[in-house]
Amino acid sequence: MMFKKLKILDEKDKRLRLISKDVTFPLNDDEKKVISDAMENLRYSQIEELAKKYNLRAGWGLSAIQLGITKKWFIIVEEQEDGNFKEYFFANPKIISNSEEKIYVEQGEGCLSVNREVVGIIPRYARITIEAQDINGEVFQLRLREDLAICVQHEMDHLKGILFFDRIDKKNPFKDANKYRAI
Ligand code: NI
Repeated sequence: MMFKKLKILDEKDKRLRLISKDVTFPLNDDEKKVISDAMENLRYSQIEELAKKYNLRAGWGLSAIQLGITKKWFIIVEEQEDGNFKEYFFANPKIISNSEEKIYVEQGEGCLSVNREVVGIIPRYARITIEAQDINGEVFQLRLREDLAICVQHEMDHLKGILFFDRIDKKNPFKDANKYRAI
């Protein structure tokens, strides 16, 4: 199969500000195809040689809205220690519990829709339990921590039309940094 490079909306695109709608099941073939293409795009983006070949920015989370699709789903593709990739699909996600503790990405969060350096911290829950539906519409719960927990919170923001820099204090981007743990 040919690799299909997906067009990811840029931050200036107003569609990124739309509120996504519930995913209904079963997914049709076109929807399943976009999801598998998106998984492949993220996987390739994390493999240096392929990222270079197809000019892909490295990323491990992507929401439907970043492809112009106003549906509540997102994916995460995470490289494992053995070099394989773990793929996650979440539809209609809800955070059902969260830690008191908050953390932030010390180097700042990134987003495939934001092609520039943004400084500042975004406190996120260190641990969450998420309930969502899988690709077949089956409900599941998953407990996530650290960078995966942050990634999920970042993607869930996309479903509400929120971009990560909206959450950075404009006057003081590192406000309260000492109150939270950096990762
Ligand atoms: Ni993003």
